Amino acid sequence: MDHLKTLNFPPGFTFGVATSSYQIEGAAFKDGRVPSHWDTFSHTPGKTHNGDTGDVACDHYHRYREDIELMAQIGVSSYRFSFAWPRIMTEANKVSQKGLDFYQRVLDSLLEHNIAPAATIYHWDLPQWLADRGGWVNRDTVGYFGDFAEVLFKTFGDRIHLWITHNEPWCSSFLSYGLGEHAPGHHDWREAVVAAHHILLSHGETVLRYRDMGMKGDIGITLNLTPVYAKTDREEDRETATRADGFSNRWFLDPILQGAYPDDMLELFRPYVKTDEFIRDGDLAAISRPLDFLGVNYYTRSVVFQQAHTGLLNLGQDEPPMHKATAMGWEVYPDALYSLLRRLHTQYPPLPLYITENGAAYPDAIAPDGMVHDTQRIGYLEQHLLAAQRFAAEGGLLKGYYLWSLLDNFEWGYGYSKRFGIVHVDFSTQKRLLKESAHWYRNVIASQPK
Ligand code: FCB
Repeated sequence: MDHLKTLNFPPGFTFGVATSSYQIEGAAFKDGRVPSHWDTFSHTPGKTHNGDTGDVACDHYHRYREDIELMAQIGVSSYRFSFAWPRIMTEANKVSQKGLDFYQRVLDSLLEHNIAPAATIYHWDLPQWLADRGGWVNRDTVGYFGDFAEVLFKTFGDRIHLWITHNEPWCSSFLSYGLGEHAPGHHDWREAVVAAHHILLSHGETVLRYRDMGMKGDIGITLNLTPVYAKTDREEDRETATRADGFSNRWFLDPILQGAYPDDMLELFRPYVKTDEFIRDGDLAAISRPLDFLGVNYYTRSVVFQQAHTGLLNLGQDEPPMHKATAMGWEVYPDALYSLLRRLHTQYPPLPLYITENGAAYPDAIAPDGMVHDTQRIGYLEQHLLAAQRFAAEGGLLKGYYLWSLLDNFEWGYGYSKRFGIVHVDFSTQKRLLKESAHWYRNVIASQPK
């Protein structure tokens, strides 16, 4: 395996895999778990591919031991997972012991296998009891989130040393309240902007509580960052790219890392919402509290051009040629990962980075020889790891890489139609099978300097 020689990260670099609660756990009605807005959304006809839901998913709630053994076989040093809020807080101020017990069992098993847990506090499964009160549009959700996080810190803080407050606020606000593709499925830009603000505020609130409680680990946030390229050099296309960058990236990066929303975007949102309706004194100071790291989820870039009357941003998006696209239609473009990391390193105050998600969906099937030969995924992973390595080799502060995902799972609106796993899941039998990419990843990890 010649190419392995070229993948060479510094000792101590974290190689992990990532999942999230609603996408894998199933057991949606078990042991007192209450519904989340994703249960409501996925059970609403027409919202997900094929009407798929997370009711059973990968049944990880019952099969976590087997799944952790697979991780150990692959040799990962860390596992990024998320806590299901509706399993733990079944109503305001009511903590479910059974919910906590499940995660204690998961942690027991991870630690037995020497796999360091990396916990995401919120990966989108908002309890329905909070959604009923307005969800993230309601500022009270900030306090409820802080209370939930505090329960987690108290219960698990001695065993978890890497905490991610939120996964991809862009998705849980703009995609969910503005574009309507994720729960709760609203189409309202006022709601979307207000929700984004409250999500960021709840992040800041949680960082404060973590510090005040004297916790010993690292805390940060994960953003999905999509580098934007202008299709042509024409001024209108370049302006469109700047706008799209503001929308996807700067709206989140700037307040968290620099304590201010970008002016051009405030201007863009002004017809929908006035800042004094939702930003209060002290909010930006809270949102920009110092972090220990920034998590970056990277999948693809976007190439844009100006197109009038196409909604908020007036943009059109180029489709990549088929041979360069994954099953999601996302272009495979590893160079943008390298430039993104460079940009974070040079344009923002220096902060250790983790790649908290990177991976690809392909239409995998079990071949007659009983294997899944996912060579395209291996190609994708290898190129992106090389891009990450280039950044690290040039002195960039990159501490780890979490591959999305361990298992084929519930891919939100796409249901079970998109397979991101390095472990194949047969959803009718729940049988797991390491794909060729899992064997490849194991070799990559095993060949690193100790
Ligand atoms: C990210 C999500 C993750 C998964 C991947 C493919 O946006 O964080 O849950 O759906 O995309």
